[in-house]
Amino acid sequence: MTRSFFIETFGCRMNELDSEKIAGALCREGLRPARDPGEADVVIVNTCSVREKAAQKAYARLGQLRRRKARERGLIIGVVGCLAQLEGAQLLRRVPGLDLVAGPQREHRLPQLLRQRLAGGSPAVDLGMDDGGAPAETEPVLRRSRFCAGVTISEGCSRRCSFCVVPAARGPQRDRPGAAIVREVERLAQEGYVEVTLLGQTVTTYRDPVGEYGDLAALLRRLCRIEGLERIRFSAPHPGDFTQTLVDTIASCPKICEHVHLPVQSGSTRILRAMRRGYTRDTYLRVVERIRAAARPIALSTDIIVGYPGESEKDFEDTLSLLAEVQYDSVFSFKYSPRPNTPAFESADDVPEEIKSRRLSLLQERQRAIQFARNAACVGKTLEVLVEEKARTNFSLAGRAGNNKIVNFDGPDHLMGKIVPVEITGYTPNSLKGVWKRAPTEEA
Ligand code: 5AD
Repeated sequence: MTRSFFIETFGCRMNELDSEKIAGALCREGLRPARDPGEADVVIVNTCSVREKAAQKAYARLGQLRRRKARERGLIIGVVGCLAQLEGAQLLRRVPGLDLVAGPQREHRLPQLLRQRLAGGSPAVDLGMDDGGAPAETEPVLRRSRFCAGVTISEGCSRRCSFCVVPAARGPQRDRPGAAIVREVERLAQEGYVEVTLLGQTVTTYRDPVGEYGDLAALLRRLCRIEGLERIRFSAPHPGDFTQTLVDTIASCPKICEHVHLPVQSGSTRILRAMRRGYTRDTYLRVVERIRAAARPIALSTDIIVGYPGESEKDFEDTLSLLAEVQYDSVFSFKYSPRPNTPAFESADDVPEEIKSRRLSLLQERQRAIQFARNAACVGKTLEVLVEEKARTNFSLAGRAGNNKIVNFDGPDHLMGKIVPVEITGYTPNSLKGVWKRAPTEEA
């Protein structure tokens, strides 16, 4: 009987895409995907290490799997992703019974590792990292969505933001050749995918290593010419190198979605310096100004950390005033979490937990009001929505507008995977609702 596998994914979009690549590789190896982890012979946990909580969740899940393995001797447990890379040896000690361990740069080797493990002996571990070379080409990918696809354009990060574990876990930035990216997106468009998201840790420093397609703006322009492909997103840019050319490219190419995720982390220049972000409050705001001045409206979202070492009340006030000034469409906010293998780990985590919590709720409360107003301003407009799923709310369908806002509405199932006009009639701080504007010729 063929073995079945299930991959559980924690963390970012990159991890989700990595899991889809691993799934593709395991299928090629002759395994079949299981519908549920409880039914799978091989369970792979794709881990995140960005905050302590993410690491704890992975350990908790691995503990459960280990207990299951005590009853089911044949169960194979694998750990991949950033926590695997950073804590490989410790993981093997803390979670006896692990079979496979691979870091983010070695996940394409999982089929070989599985074979090695099945041949007997010790757990199969590969935590190797290459400092140079292009990211591994690991097609075909077994994708969850039939309409939206993530596409790797670079891996790793060569910045050294003080709080961030990514450079240690994923290594320095390596860019994928433009020709391989174009080929993959062409194939996706032929297969019926309507939206791609170009993924990398800092996509704004992308350069085609072969020199054929140039920088991110040039690559985007090239991808816009692909027939059948309707939408392109990219994540995440770094505010320090968001050029006017990139703004102009988004403004002038209708296929590029009118949304930019621009992580600011703090509104205080003092804290930004300590974080080694490479920009100040003012230079960040100048980038925002450029984006706001574009020929078509571009939605903005961001990431913010509260309670970074040394963050004073005044620094936090600066973050709140930045929020008021920029008027983001959405914000992901986090309490600072000290991570081993980061420069800030050496600094005392000196903002008390209660203050971090208070700052986080205050920030979220302020942002809620901003989003409420921004979403209210959408009422009466008709947005183009890519229908991605059956809504979890009272409505039958849900999707995303080009500006990345979630839109719930009623419509027939056959709209799934299509881009349809929806007139916005209502809103909450986190989503919009509306009415599908059916063309007279279209079936209901
Ligand atoms: N503590 C809290 N938040 C963090 N992030 C990254 N590292 C940390 C950390 N040590 C947040 C940043 C980043 C997002 C993906 O996670 O805001 O943009």
